[in-house]
Amino acid sequence: MTDRHRWWQRGIVYEVSIRSFADADGDGVGDLAGIRSRLDYLAWLGVDAVWITPFFPSPMVDNGYDVADYTGVEPLFGSLDDFDRLLADAHDRSLRVICDFVPNHTSDQHPWFRASRSARDAPKRDWYLWRDPAPDGGPPTNWLSEFGGPAWTLDEATGQYYYHAFASAQPDLNWRNREVREAMYDAMRFWLDRGVDGFRVDVMWHLVKDEAYRDNPPNPDYREGQGSPYRRLVPAYSADQPEVHEVVAEMRAVLEEYEDRVMIGEIYLPVDRLIDYYGRDGDGAHLPFNFHLITTPWDAREIEVVIDRYEGVLPENAWPNWVLGNHDQPRVASRVGDAQSRVAAVLLLTLRGTPTLYYGEELGLRDVPIPPERVTDVRERQQPGRGLGRDPERTPMPWDATEHGGGFTSGEPWLPLGEANLARSVATQREERKSMLMLHRRLIELRRREAALLVGSYRPMPAQGDALAYRRASDGRELVVALNLGAAAQRLVLPDELGELRVILSASGEAEGRTHRDELPLAANEALVLEALGEGRR
Ligand code: GLC
Repeated sequence: MTDRHRWWQRGIVYEVSIRSFADADGDGVGDLAGIRSRLDYLAWLGVDAVWITPFFPSPMVDNGYDVADYTGVEPLFGSLDDFDRLLADAHDRSLRVICDFVPNHTSDQHPWFRASRSARDAPKRDWYLWRDPAPDGGPPTNWLSEFGGPAWTLDEATGQYYYHAFASAQPDLNWRNREVREAMYDAMRFWLDRGVDGFRVDVMWHLVKDEAYRDNPPNPDYREGQGSPYRRLVPAYSADQPEVHEVVAEMRAVLEEYEDRVMIGEIYLPVDRLIDYYGRDGDGAHLPFNFHLITTPWDAREIEVVIDRYEGVLPENAWPNWVLGNHDQPRVASRVGDAQSRVAAVLLLTLRGTPTLYYGEELGLRDVPIPPERVTDVRERQQPGRGLGRDPERTPMPWDATEHGGGFTSGEPWLPLGEANLARSVATQREERKSMLMLHRRLIELRRREAALLVGSYRPMPAQGDALAYRRASDGRELVVALNLGAAAQRLVLPDELGELRVILSASGEAEGRTHRDELPLAANEALVLEALGEGRR
């Protein structure tokens, strides 16, 4: 049954934030050669694909998400040769490489934007979104930047505003312009020709804006001081426009010129809107990122609802996926606590669909507090003190317990590793049978071995209180996953027809081998995978 599935359906995606994974040249910043030197670790862990955050030439206003050249490598991270070597070595280990593709905006230093801003009648003027000032001289619409303040900046020299969904140094491209589309598709082909296995497409739902430039309505749920001020308005006209799906389908068509590549879309939307990004006939993204385990409160009933809603609306042939963390979100161990982060790992790796792991999650890394003088993130610099900064979850990977560099660098690390995280290094955890790292490795191994987890069906199981449970089955083999999202013991009633069950994995490492029928005791913070020993046994 697994043979019918593509690599990105069976596989696990591992996100590497390039600045923080491994530094080969000792300048304190991670690089391509560093990633290459750690491929054996990724193979040992058992993941299938590594997605690398942007490594293209960039003034680094937004961590490389301000690209100044789509077909080059930022010297800080290495060279094109380094990239080719990394790709070849990854492929030698059957690891796929997924590049970040940032189509919504460029850097304001990109030659296209320089040309565009040079004059109102410049040939590339229409490559970006230029508008006259409002009658009062202010911005053309009320649209807000995700990083704070208005999303429009006045260009004094030409007297017009340009739109930027993020920092003013990240002007949005005009995706209604055919030349822009062709130029960007060529950039995709540049990397596909080199052999990359796919793209993670940055802010896919932002690509197209309302043609009439209507104002966004106020958000009735917004409370001042709670979360980002961007949420003051509902981005009804500045994101998720119907025309975006035509662009997504065109991108997909570019991928289809090649064999067996994957397109993942970054999309923060409610599930009913999210699924549109699979495309009407499956001609959209293979995997529109599902961030609902991040955006949903860590509560068994709420998570159950989100899983069932997602499973319920997925079109046939649309492959599910789940994400627990990324470079824009507080780390999962900081969100739910150490004990629950083990439960979260079991959840992520046993739900139906492709999981994405953020580097360091397998170590249970926590957010590292960053002193004000070391802040680098543009979101924190533009809106300080609101807790919106993303440096805490972007700190370097602790490979060993060496003070300071933690085996990440021989130089001065660009962000502190944090003492608590140093104590959770790869070297330390490899020696501990029950460590978070070894739990991940065992879960990944189990997943690989069990078709029921890899590609099997999903069925919710009734549960109360802090318990959450579901069944996964394939070819007559049935597994039960039972999670306790709380710190008090729970009990789960087991359906009669399942007969006797045996624990094959326990997050605490305490319950393996035990058998149960009718009722399952679930210790505090425990997560179990059980096999049915009855009729359905393989
Ligand atoms: C995406 C990236 C984020 C970046 C933003 C603007 O959300 O994940 O890090 O700041 O796009 O490019």
